[in-house]
Amino acid sequence: MHIPTPSSFFPALLPLFLPLTTALLPTHLIYEAAVGTWYENLAVRASGSILLTEITAPNLYMIDPLSPNPKPTLVHTFTSALWLVGITETTPDIFHLVAANGTLATLSSTPGSNRIFQVAFPPGRDTPEIKLTATLPEAQLLNGLTTLNPTTVLAADSAKGVVWAVDVETGDSRIAIADPLMLPTSAFPLGINGLHIRDQTLYFTNSALDLFAKIPIHPDGTAAGSAVNISHAPADASYDDFAISENSDLAFLVTNTGNSLEDVGLRGEPQVIVAGNLNSTELAEPTSAAFGRGEGGEGVVYVTTGGGLVAPVNGDETVGAQLVAVDIRGLGRR
Ligand SMILES: *[C@@H]1O[C@H](CO)[C@@H](O)[C@H](O)[C@H]1NC(C)=O
Ligand SMILES: *[C@@H]1O[C@H](CO)[C@@H](O)[C@H](O)[C@H]1NC(C)=O
Ligand SMILES: *[C@@H]1O[C@H](CO)[C@@H](O)[C@H](O)[C@H]1NC(C)=O
Repeated sequence: MHIPTPSSFFPALLPLFLPLTTALLPTHLIYEAAVGTWYENLAVRASGSILLTEITAPNLYMIDPLSPNPKPTLVHTFTSALWLVGITETTPDIFHLVAANGTLATLSSTPGSNRIFQVAFPPGRDTPEIKLTATLPEAQLLNGLTTLNPTTVLAADSAKGVVWAVDVETGDSRIAIADPLMLPTSAFPLGINGLHIRDQTLYFTNSALDLFAKIPIHPDGTAAGSAVNISHAPADASYDDFAISENSDLAFLVTNTGNSLEDVGLRGEPQVIVAGNLNSTELAEPTSAAFGRGEGGEGVVYVTTGGGLVAPVNGDETVGAQLVAVDIRGLGRR
């Protein structure tokens, strides 16, 4: 069987050296849902298929981005909740996600409604087994989710401005980190949003403070120091979730209301918009980013969007939730 590579949607490699200040990379729209849909987060399976969480309904979808006419299939509707947000892989092909009774229009969720579910794919199968793994009665608005170790996830509580550590075997949870750089503000109710771990450091975004920051952590997820900021979102933008490279100093942050993807070095430099544009629906209110995996996934960052549902592009343009591939192969060469 012929397995397409990204070159099937990205025919040519980029010029060798990209300018550092404006370096727009090729993008490819994989799928656009109906207007009124908002994809909140994504996780890429080892096979290359992508799991998409929807916030406008408690739906989990899966899509094969390299299939001829990619279209998401519904994996599961979490009827005990109203929205799905963060998702993370804890062990190969076993994922955990946050489901809660949240409302996008008010950016709030019902206290006591935050739950973590496990979505486990048996080897070679696309139909997962799903079970409730934790209920967090004290959490206020869980958002981003990341894996600390195979049995522990860290969940960003955007409203409380803290990080919860959740044991997905026992269901126990505790606040692991509380730091001023994680707090929301009186002007915007979502503080810490996306979070990812690399080298005993927790990287996170704060949507209210418009910043990307990091904090050293202990193996149990508690802080080993104070958070420091790395970069500020561009004008008119607000950081949402991001993808962080395992083997280079790059992170790809979505700028949400900025309608773009920003490449930020882990030391703050460079800080370059690499896809999208404030005034374009190419990436309409992007919500998260993840690296491709598997054959054909290398050199690709996938971006989910909310379609401009909360903040229409140019004030009045709304499209359906999008899944967009960004060809980052040119970046490795600079
Ligand atoms: C959350 O919403 C579901 C679906 O409407 C409802 O059945 C459930 O009781 C709600 N739970 C909480 C804690 O509000
Ligand atoms: C982030 O760092 C910059 C200097 O690099 C500083 O001006 C700014 O106040 C800091 N922001 C926060 C929220 O700490
Ligand atoms: C977006 O549009 C505004 C208003 O027309 C303009 O001032 C701004 O320069 C544009 N920004 C970009 C990045 O094109």
